[in-house]
Amino acid sequence: MDKETIIVTGGAGFIGSEVVRQLIQSGECSVVNIDKLTYAGNLKSLASIEDSDDYRFCQIDICDKDQLREEVFRSRPTRIMHLAAESHVDRSIDGPDDFIRTNIIGTYNLLEVSREYFSGLSGEEAELFRFHHVSTDEVYGSLGETGLFTEETPYRPNSPYSASKASSDQLVRAWYKTYGMPALISNCSNNYGPYQYPEKLIPLVIHKALAGDPIPIYGRGENIRDWLYVGDHARALQTIIKNGEPGQVYNVGGKNEMTNLQVVATICGMLDDLRPLHDGESYEDQIEFVTDRPGHDMRYAIDASKIERTLKWSPAETFESGIKKTIEWYLSNQIWCESVTQKYSGKRLGVLA
Ligand code: NAD
Ligand code: TYD
Repeated sequence: MDKETIIVTGGAGFIGSEVVRQLIQSGECSVVNIDKLTYAGNLKSLASIEDSDDYRFCQIDICDKDQLREEVFRSRPTRIMHLAAESHVDRSIDGPDDFIRTNIIGTYNLLEVSREYFSGLSGEEAELFRFHHVSTDEVYGSLGETGLFTEETPYRPNSPYSASKASSDQLVRAWYKTYGMPALISNCSNNYGPYQYPEKLIPLVIHKALAGDPIPIYGRGENIRDWLYVGDHARALQTIIKNGEPGQVYNVGGKNEMTNLQVVATICGMLDDLRPLHDGESYEDQIEFVTDRPGHDMRYAIDASKIERTLKWSPAETFESGIKKTIEWYLSNQIWCESVTQKYSGKRLGVLA
């Protein structure tokens, strides 16, 4: 039998490129990467696999239903992993338009095209087919000091980004219930690792620290996120699409709850060791507390026991091991970093006028 073909949308982004690299390196499937190449998409992240006979790139906007339909019917995928999205909360505060378009309308288009395609499958092809929507824990809103997000936690999104992802999750659920689309949803906590666009906290801190610029911490730095290494997330996604049950939701998280201040201090401490400054100076001296983000969620924390129990996935990296790998990667991949920072000056985003 031919290798199966997996369509990955958003495969030129941070998490999508890790998924594509892992799938191609496994040697088990062909991958068609559908990506519009917005500011966040970068084909340099795929340099290690771009020459593989099992890999094909298609520059398509998922809001263009006709082009999407043509490519899905041409590729004849066994499964679809949908990651393409506008993904940054601060940008969604500055301008929600693209979030509504890509995350809601784009997901709707992909669902409709997939439904047309799926309805023409039969036998083993129909049985194998899966549609996996990659989503975020931010749909659940904000936690107080205690408790964890479970798959049953009600949706209470607070930012335009999380509201658009919540909407797309609901569409996927409805397509499963109404049309029998064999769809799965995963909701994951904050990712970090190589190839992340430097508008997000961790690469932004590394970049600002090395550039000698102020390191901005929103509010008092007490907000908590549950950090997961991107390689662990991509493995979870492969596990879900292979062995997950259609109609199910899986929460994915790293059991690494940390305040933003703890995250920044850890990065500064590691940089002090790996790239020491002059005598007695620390990168921590560059920390600057700045105006808080509007609607800033206080705490995210994931109960990942369902995926651990039912699909036998668990993260391999601790925050200490993952952040060390990440910092070392940014230090030795300055060409990639420069290609990205040429597009983004590092200016503060997401403050209301
Ligand atoms: P990213 O911003 O790094 O990449 C998004 C990719 O989607 C880019 O390559 C971009 O070019 C592409 N894209 C955007 N709009 C498109 C469109 N209209 N048509 C086709 N392609 C388009 O995002 P990421 O951090 O890799 O996140 C990937 C997915 O995972 C998203 O759905 C996000 O909501 C979800 N997620 C992210 C995190 C995180 O911490 N980064 C956590 C949980 C879930
Ligand atoms: P971010 O990486 O934007 O992810 P998300 O908002 O999706 O959780 O931000 C992570 C946390 O870091 C969040 O609480 C906001 C905070 N933050 C800062 O304190 N300074 C910054 O410059 C950025 C980008 C984020």
